[in-house]
Amino acid sequence: MEAIACTKYIADGNKFKDSEKLKTDLIIRAHAIEKGMSIGKVKIGFGQAKVINLLKDLQTYLQIRGSKETVNDICSIIKKYISFNKELGADMQKIEHLFSDFCSKNKVETNESGGIYYFNYEDIKENSSKNFEIFSQSRFSIRDFSNKPIEIDLIKKALKLCERTPSACNRQSWSIYIFQDEQQKKLLFNLQKGCNGFYQDMQYAILLCGNLSRYNFHELNQVYVDGGIYAMNLMYALHFYGVANIPLTMGHKQKQLKTIKNMLNIPDNEIPIVLIGAGAYKENYKVAVSERNDYSLYTKFI
Ligand SMILES: Cc1cc2nc3c(=O)[nH]c(=O)nc-3n(C[C@H](O)[C@H](O)[C@H](O)COP(=O)(O)O)c2cc1C
Repeated sequence: MEAIACTKYIADGNKFKDSEKLKTDLIIRAHAIEKGMSIGKVKIGFGQAKVINLLKDLQTYLQIRGSKETVNDICSIIKKYISFNKELGADMQKIEHLFSDFCSKNKVETNESGGIYYFNYEDIKENSSKNFEIFSQSRFSIRDFSNKPIEIDLIKKALKLCERTPSACNRQSWSIYIFQDEQQKKLLFNLQKGCNGFYQDMQYAILLCGNLSRYNFHELNQVYVDGGIYAMNLMYALHFYGVANIPLTMGHKQKQLKTIKNMLNIPDNEIPIVLIGAGAYKENYKVAVSERNDYSLYTKFI
């Protein structure tokens, strides 16, 4: 895409004047609240200042003609967040008050979307082996791990399955680093920044990079396409072998990426695509719902 179009359309340029852009920011922040509930060692009463700010920006969003459905969905997550924390004994009075004012002022209609699901691993294992339909719907990003050791052989088996991942002209540009050493994992997870509160329980940090030397100038985005397809395959393969996992963004500023590459001795020609944290399933675990849109909302049959 031309640089000018990128500048015009990116989400963080002029977001308070463009409801579509502000929506992106609001979705990310609402999801952070939802994710917080799915962390195994949850911090009771977490995120109150963030929710107050979110309510403030939801008001701005409505003022610039944002979608009422989005507000309803985000408020449904906030509603679940309030009851979740109240059940754990947190003092949520201030938020509850602000939230109820916001909802009545704006005639918000909350629904059942968002929050967390509770699963039993034995049920998941038994059902997910039946067919791809059930298997694919049983994969979730895990932030609630047990400390049962995961043998490296399981990781190797998943990597073996992923050798069949398709790529542009079969270039197979991926380069994978499996960190097991506690110090190195800690360093990487801390630099990644998106796994605070649960990184301590992940036994492997799998950094997926793409080799830029396998692409020509006009197709540089292919390094992310090929890497993204590999990543999805690896997440499924790990889940198939009973390894709980979560994709963690490598979408950082260049300076941060450089630091990560330098600290971990990643060669210059390799681009970090995504980090996958892996560990053991708990017998009973929770996950963020991460409600999905119906495909008809973004699909055109022509
Ligand atoms: C590229 C990518 C980066 C992500 N980065 C993070 C992250 O830094 N921290 C986190 O907790 N979740 C992260 N996630 C997980 C998403 O929140 C999750 O995939 C999404 O909400 C859908 O939920 P599900 O994976 O449970 O189906 C990331 C997902 C992807 C695909």
